[in-house]
Amino acid sequence: MDVGNSFIEELDSLRREALAALLTVEDAAALEAVRIEYLGRNGRMVSVMSRLGALPKEERPEAGQQANRVKNEIQQGFQARLEEFSRPAASTEAQWDPSLPGRSRPLGALHPIRQVADRITEILSRMGFAVADGPDIETVENNFDALNTPADHPSRDPLDTFYLPEGTLLRTQTSPVQIRTMLAHRPPVRIIAPGRCYRRDTPDATHSATFHQVEGLYVDHDVSMADLKGTIAQLARELMGPRVQIRFRPHFFPFTEPSVECDFSCTVCGGTGCRVCKYSGWLEIAGAGMVDPRVFQKVGYDPEEFTGFAFGMGIERIAMILHGIDDIRLLYENDARFIDQFRMRFHENLH
Ligand code: DAH
Repeated sequence: MDVGNSFIEELDSLRREALAALLTVEDAAALEAVRIEYLGRNGRMVSVMSRLGALPKEERPEAGQQANRVKNEIQQGFQARLEEFSRPAASTEAQWDPSLPGRSRPLGALHPIRQVADRITEILSRMGFAVADGPDIETVENNFDALNTPADHPSRDPLDTFYLPEGTLLRTQTSPVQIRTMLAHRPPVRIIAPGRCYRRDTPDATHSATFHQVEGLYVDHDVSMADLKGTIAQLARELMGPRVQIRFRPHFFPFTEPSVECDFSCTVCGGTGCRVCKYSGWLEIAGAGMVDPRVFQKVGYDPEEFTGFAFGMGIERIAMILHGIDDIRLLYENDARFIDQFRMRFHENLH
């Protein structure tokens, strides 16, 4: 009796220990070690079973059946864990904890130059301007000759312009898009052309060999200087805020007559004078004017029938003013610590 009881007790603790061990294993190797310990040829199950013969004869069948049940239970437990480890998806699913915080992903943002170009495009689109495009590699004809720029004009100097073979160059301005547009379309024409330009400038705080402009062109019957002023004034208010003032100063460009330079009142100091506006209270923003009749002749428009205005402005300069950036080179170095500052700032700056 005693012997039998202790056999059953031992069997029972073997069962509990084996099942507990099966539950705690974390990989297939540990599982195999548990199997060998309990079910192996020299394992604990075998050693318990070997003592069956020492039991009183009448207790043997009952004890033997009990031992077989325990052995089967341990074997099933082993089999279940084995399947778990050979099914990788199921095992990771079992470990997935939905209460853990999510892993955050870095969010991309537009470069400040692109933000400003998009904003100008959006404002002028609402005024009826379509977006036109031209190549960075232009013909000398489109970049200079068709824009009424004489052969001895200083901007044509090879020290200032990147010339390429076969009458081509890296465009020095977005103005050649005016020519392409007028050659392809009859008036009315109302386009803007944002894009990259190139000049042989030595980089410093305000110069870069590559930069961006937005060109504007409006040609129709009876387009006047007042239309130009109204368009620039509206653009200024939407870009810089409702209190900004504009002024026009007489200037010269080969492709416009009369030509002006457009200034915005300084949005940094409000017009009272600061370093950014060089204590003048005004910021030079755009070149503009009424399209020169000679340009119309080059593209086959009748200057007696049509008039038009054009303007061109530097995008970097506007971005620098809006964001208080004091060195244009920062815009091209792509230092993430600098660029990351412009995720939300552009919209905050509009007030
Ligand atoms: N293309 C000129 C520049 O790069 C800017 C400009 C001035 C564009 C007057 C125009 C314009 O369309 O009418 O300095």
